[in-house]
Amino acid sequence: MNSKNKKVVIIGASSGMGMEVAKLLLDEGCQLGVAARREDRLLALKQFAPDRVVTATIDVTDEDAPHRLRSLIDEMGGMDLFFYSSGIGKQNRTLEPDIELNTFNTNAMGFARMIGEAYRYFAERGEGHIAAITSIAGTKGLGPAPSYSATKAMQNVYLQALEQQSNARGLKIRFTDIRPGFVDTALLSGDFRYPMMLKPEKVARQIVRALKSKRHIQVIDWKYSLLTACWRRLPRPLWRHLKL
Ligand SMILES: NC(=O)c1ccc[n+]([C@@H]2O[C@H](COP(=O)([O-])OP(=O)(O)OC[C@H]3O[C@@H](n4cnc5c(N)ncnc54)[C@H](OP(=O)(O)O)[C@@H]3O)[C@@H](O)[C@H]2O)c1
Repeated sequence: MNSKNKKVVIIGASSGMGMEVAKLLLDEGCQLGVAARREDRLLALKQFAPDRVVTATIDVTDEDAPHRLRSLIDEMGGMDLFFYSSGIGKQNRTLEPDIELNTFNTNAMGFARMIGEAYRYFAERGEGHIAAITSIAGTKGLGPAPSYSATKAMQNVYLQALEQQSNARGLKIRFTDIRPGFVDTALLSGDFRYPMMLKPEKVARQIVRALKSKRHIQVIDWKYSLLTACWRRLPRPLWRHLKL
């Protein structure tokens, strides 16, 4: 990615990794369209480079979210990279229905809604780059967070399917599936102490590197790469009885 003047839309730029990636891309000279529900945080981000940031209030669970995305793209005069960093996630050992259904609504329905619109935009243009933060949580069913790991698996497979479809249609759309381990953001706030926690600023630097080299899949960091490689090889009966 030659960053100067690249037009990048970031959904989920109001906090966490999305916000950190936005700051780095601004340092590189990109023009940004930033979206999320919390407008005040987007406006704070705009202060870093007022003439290179356009903001939009978008809730990915709303039916008009794709329309709002198109308006944002129009306002920017086009889009070269679509970077998706929206998501929610909670442990839910008691399987509270609200948590499960909200997670599906945001991480599965919202994801398909927004990635789909970006895909259709790039398909009309014939080229583009779609990147999304999914998670290592999609590589196995995780008992403490069933809807989170299930929706992350959905995201992994959806991106893979779209990439195959795009190639079959002769489109030049690149896909980057970013899979971090535990990152110290608001999403993990709470009483539970997570092991091997990564700093969002450091993860953001690795994400930008993956975007520039247009990686297909990027696990962050190397320790989680090793961990997921190991747990993929665990025999299924062992996984079924693992106490996480
Ligand atoms: N933290 C981790 O350990 C970790 C690990 C692997 C993957 N991830 C994934 O990384 C992504 C970013 O999360 P994060 O860790 O950076 O957490 P975060 O700081 O909580 O950021 C989540 C972002 O998603 C946005 N969002 C949530 N619901 C939304 C909705 N309905 N419509 C639009 N935007 C919405 C939030 O903005 P508003 O609230 O302003 O709308 C916020 O900008 C998520 O997909 C998460 O699953 C996180």
